[in-house]
Amino acid sequence: MYQIHDPKCNGMKNPVGLIDKLPRFSWKLSTDLNDLKQQNYRIRVQNEQKTLVWDSGTVESTAVFDIPYNGSPLCSHTDYTWSVISVATNSDKATSPHQYFSTAMLEGEWKAQWIEPTLSRKPLTDCTEMWKVFTGMVTSLEHPEEVLDPPVYLRRNFTISKPVAKAKAYATAHGIYELQLNGKVISAPLAPGYTVYKDYLAVQQYDITACLNRGTNCIGTILADGWYTGKIGFTGIGNQYGDTTAFYLQLELFYNDGTHETITSDEQFRWTTGNYAYADLFVGERYIQDKISSKWNSADFDDRSWQKVAVKNYGTANFAGQECEPVRVLRTISKPAFLNSPKGELIVDAGENIVGYPRITMHGKVGQTVKLTHSEVLDRDGNFLMNIMGQHKNQCDIFIFTRDSMVNYTPCFTFHGFRYIKVEGISTDNIESIEIDILGTDLDHSGSFSTSCDLINRLQENIVRSQSGNMLEIPTDCPQRERAGWTGDMQVYTPTACFNMDVYAFLSRWLKNMRYEQLPDGQVPNIIPSMESDKYIHFSQNKHISCAGWSDACMIIPWFLYQYYGKIEVLVDNFDMIHRWMDYVENQARTSHPKAAGVYSPEELERQQYLWNTEFHFGDWLYPSAVKEAEGNPILSAERTKEYVPAAMFAYTSRLMSKICTALNKKELAAHYRALNNNIRRAFAAEYIDSDGKMPVHIQGLYVLALQFDLYPANKKSMGIKHLKELIASNNGSLDTGFLSTPFLLDTLYENGEKELAYSLLYRETCPSWLYAVTQGATTIWESWAAIQPDGTRTNSSYNHFAFGSIGDFIYRRIGGLFPLEAGFRQIKISPDFDCGLAHARLSYNSNYGKIEVNWHKKAKGLLLEISLPVNVSGIVECNGQSYEVTSGKTTFTT
Ligand code: BGC
Repeated sequence: MYQIHDPKCNGMKNPVGLIDKLPRFSWKLSTDLNDLKQQNYRIRVQNEQKTLVWDSGTVESTAVFDIPYNGSPLCSHTDYTWSVISVATNSDKATSPHQYFSTAMLEGEWKAQWIEPTLSRKPLTDCTEMWKVFTGMVTSLEHPEEVLDPPVYLRRNFTISKPVAKAKAYATAHGIYELQLNGKVISAPLAPGYTVYKDYLAVQQYDITACLNRGTNCIGTILADGWYTGKIGFTGIGNQYGDTTAFYLQLELFYNDGTHETITSDEQFRWTTGNYAYADLFVGERYIQDKISSKWNSADFDDRSWQKVAVKNYGTANFAGQECEPVRVLRTISKPAFLNSPKGELIVDAGENIVGYPRITMHGKVGQTVKLTHSEVLDRDGNFLMNIMGQHKNQCDIFIFTRDSMVNYTPCFTFHGFRYIKVEGISTDNIESIEIDILGTDLDHSGSFSTSCDLINRLQENIVRSQSGNMLEIPTDCPQRERAGWTGDMQVYTPTACFNMDVYAFLSRWLKNMRYEQLPDGQVPNIIPSMESDKYIHFSQNKHISCAGWSDACMIIPWFLYQYYGKIEVLVDNFDMIHRWMDYVENQARTSHPKAAGVYSPEELERQQYLWNTEFHFGDWLYPSAVKEAEGNPILSAERTKEYVPAAMFAYTSRLMSKICTALNKKELAAHYRALNNNIRRAFAAEYIDSDGKMPVHIQGLYVLALQFDLYPANKKSMGIKHLKELIASNNGSLDTGFLSTPFLLDTLYENGEKELAYSLLYRETCPSWLYAVTQGATTIWESWAAIQPDGTRTNSSYNHFAFGSIGDFIYRRIGGLFPLEAGFRQIKISPDFDCGLAHARLSYNSNYGKIEVNWHKKAKGLLLEISLPVNVSGIVECNGQSYEVTSGKTTFTT
């Protein structure tokens, strides 16, 4: 059957609040038949009056994504429906169900005023001396209410005197807001999200038609610190984007009689504080029942005792529409287990390490205080352990009863990274129910694989869970300690991320934010959005705030997005940023050398200009032997490798840059980067590879990078492989690689005739290895290979970091056997490694054209290989030394 799947507009399912005047449409196609392509398509778009605003007509084309709208100009505040008919080359026909999208202010018709509570906020007393934070001298405060400010409640009434045809609300904030209309919550969690606020502030659109009453209506909002003024990032320092919260709201009311009215945030709003003593993303909330009347959000409430708001002129130039799926509750764990620890603690076990919050229904008595503290691990005896250290990392929500009652409590302005919740102040008898909501940006899952090896399957589940937990608004390093957009983490993980989920819109938006953050000198900060407090963790005395492997994300991520999704726009949109970054690196290499210029011979000086080898770099971050040697201090891994890793990465990025320039048809530039790459490789070999093929720091990661980036001259390559093999052997057959080299470790071995060794690392269960964590009961990927040490010691590491999950991509490609031959997987190669030591594997990847499936089974007497490709896609299958051509539909091979 010829079918349409996943119709999307701007990469989203039924997006609301677009400010794009030319939205783009996409769909995917499936069939059972071989050799089918799309012959033509026809898209139709209707407005609310069912008037056809665009009929593409029959377009003879195989195109199925990024088809731009080309009809009469779209209008603001309008709901459009669209559908597509696709006809195949055999005349089969498929029609999509009706989809919709809505437009926001297309012409910038913002009329509201920014309003601010006139709350006098507590002065910042946060510690800025990072050595104190690093050494555990600064811990979370016992009484956060002494330093945190309460969220504010804002309200105003407005009147409706005639029938409403449709009504839209637009809202955004400095801070995070919950918007209510006549007591009903209408906003999305954690809105407006986390972006580079000064340049990009997302505005949410809500359809409020059904929430309005004839007569008086009430708008109520609770405004909390969120990322804007909260204690965020590694440092836990507040006020990173401003020193007070503010709110912006515009309601557009369209009446049946054709008239139109706008209600806005303005001086008619009043504010007060209420049930929350504080509500911070990292610290948690302190909620005191009944501090505010439950009627505060209804039209008949008298707010004369509330205070007047201040009107501010923050402007609307940074307002952005919806460009990515919002944060939603992705799943609910309905029956977490209750545990009693040996110490007698009551602990709720979610059964998996997740990101979100509990919703609890409980009976309490006046004065009773219930405390919920969240953590990722228990100690080796099964007692509660707070693994996250640092400033303002409480992850603790407190509910205080002011009367005997039964309540439903769900935190609203915070979330946690946790598996366990220590529950204090209440017994299970008084807990009616507890559920756990898992929160994240609502991304489509696009890939999966399962094999005959249960541990590998669980590894894949853990990778996906870590991805989910770390894709909340931005790609983060971890969801508890920092929640920061560390560029290096996402860079190494992008290929795996693309296999697992549709991250195109999500990462494109983040890259847009990255473009805003680029410095005039071309540097791309290590963390996006960056924070003022980043300066305390730069390990650098000067203005160097970027580094190899991290800032390189600005080019490596667009390159992989292009490879996986086949959309050249991602290279076009980011090219200027990439080019400026490459110029910066080239200039650094040319002008800055480890030793004074006079020390070098002319020949050495000539090659130094191609070596990027100065300043601080995170290097091969967290390679395990250095972490062990430095007793957990991650900086040693950086210190040891910071001269060589940037030099190797520069070879990698110059090679990718020549490919990017070629893809964009910039021939001269492509030639420049090819020549640069040759010079870098020559200089690297001369400077850092000795006559025995050894490198100055004899560790696995450097050999991996040097082999992977072609830094070995042909006559020494086998020496490099030999050193890498020996290092693995002398490490008891275990890996010893950090963030930047791990993604390449298995491929390097595989491509250099050492595939058995590659698989032995993959299937290894002793520490350090991927499956070690799985055997320890991990449900996510750990930041450190030995987060739980073999003797059972729990370290203060994060238990939810996707970086080492970068192995996922190797499994998809080598065991599943799927490779793109053309950007976007229109042409593919399927070449599973049947000798990978497994009996079967099943892979599914929902590409931009549709679902690609590979399923292989090794049986006693041969092999079964089943392949299914979407319409328009064709490729080559390699099976037992033969190549076969395959097209759409199902194809089976048996040997
Ligand atoms: C983060 C990392 C990050 C690193 C920089 C850490 O604290 O958690 O994942 O990339 O700092 O090296």
